[in-house]
Amino acid sequence: MSQALIDQARKVMEGNDRGSYTVPTHGLYPFQWNWDSALSALGFSHFDMDRAWVEIETLMAHQWDDGMVPHIVFHEPDDGYFPGPEVWQTGRPVPTTGITQPAVAGFALRKLYDRAEDKAVARARLTKLLPKVHAWHQWFYRDRDPENTGLVAIIHPWESGRDNSVDWDEGLDAVPIEGVAPFTRRDTTHANPDHRPSDEQYKCYIWLVEHFRGLGWDNPKLHDASPFRLVDPGFNGILTRSCDDVADLADVLGNLSIASEARAMATKGREALESLWNPALGQYTCYNRVTGRLQDTPSVGGLLAAVADVPHARAEALARRIGLLAERCGYLVPSHDPANDAFDSQRYWRGPTWLIVNYMIAEGLARSGQTEMAKRIHANSLHLIEKSGFAEYYDPISGEPCGGSSFTWTAAMVIEILKNLKVAA
Ligand code: GLC
Repeated sequence: MSQALIDQARKVMEGNDRGSYTVPTHGLYPFQWNWDSALSALGFSHFDMDRAWVEIETLMAHQWDDGMVPHIVFHEPDDGYFPGPEVWQTGRPVPTTGITQPAVAGFALRKLYDRAEDKAVARARLTKLLPKVHAWHQWFYRDRDPENTGLVAIIHPWESGRDNSVDWDEGLDAVPIEGVAPFTRRDTTHANPDHRPSDEQYKCYIWLVEHFRGLGWDNPKLHDASPFRLVDPGFNGILTRSCDDVADLADVLGNLSIASEARAMATKGREALESLWNPALGQYTCYNRVTGRLQDTPSVGGLLAAVADVPHARAEALARRIGLLAERCGYLVPSHDPANDAFDSQRYWRGPTWLIVNYMIAEGLARSGQTEMAKRIHANSLHLIEKSGFAEYYDPISGEPCGGSSFTWTAAMVIEILKNLKVAA
């Protein structure tokens, strides 16, 4: 059974492979997305190691001079997606967006290196990639944490990767939508509009893009100039973990300066994460840097922080919290607590379950000794695939497939989970 699933997953990935990068899925997302690529590389690493490295090399080839790695690289023109390069106008030789996404590349590189059979080849590739990933992390702490708190803010909901989460509702209230140029959405022609964000939310998204464009995408200015500045525990947890992984890889390469800088960033980030602990909910929650308030929205962002080697007591509490969510839905881990009023089982990031998030939470919990919950999350993930195929995301109550189909990173996670289970067995 598991080999048949791996074969199907591989077919999905190969179908979305454009040679040096993969698209998340045909139609809805026709370009290269940042964290999709890094996580998809993990899937490739089990059947084509060279292709896995290429995925991340292509992404990093489009890094900006200041270190930022964009959230989308528009390799080929495709008018099936909005907002395309003509809206972003970032002036890059190959057009990109002007915002970023969760920093999973460092986390993925560590796994690629550890799995590589030919360490000499892996070292050579790593020698080129590691300084770039480190520069991206330095950019984060420089331009998205100007007060040096150890926590970075996102300035657009799409940076979080959890684009439409309830976590951003309060922050978006501060975004004016007057004067947004009229536009036609394309996402709702590819996917069920009930699974997608509302038109009002889309206006805020585009207002922010136009605002940053008006500031010439000058990163040092954008943080303070943004009416939307949210500190996401999942986003920061991923960054912290990737700094750790970069530090370990730098040790392997004998690059002492990257090793010590990256380790210092990780230590500071992990300590600062504690300020996002929400005792009433028993999980981390987002902090609104504009209002100075720790939010109460019970989303998966606070559980995703488990990937950051959080203190054991925190990992234990997060596992408990996920156990509670399991009593409220059939398929872990819902992106929003089903008991909360804002929960919507099919609208993306406001309830549905995503395999990439499951994978990262389980990976972190297992490292922190919460193996039972990690296994339960894996089992739920595989049930979803068997029931509903390689969808973009799933209804956590019914297990129905939602959003796009034949999804690259979902397939990659299936391979990753099944291969790792084999190793563990
Ligand atoms: C959606 C998701 C985002 C992902 C992209 C491509 O926008 O919210 O996380 O990177 O699709 O799959």
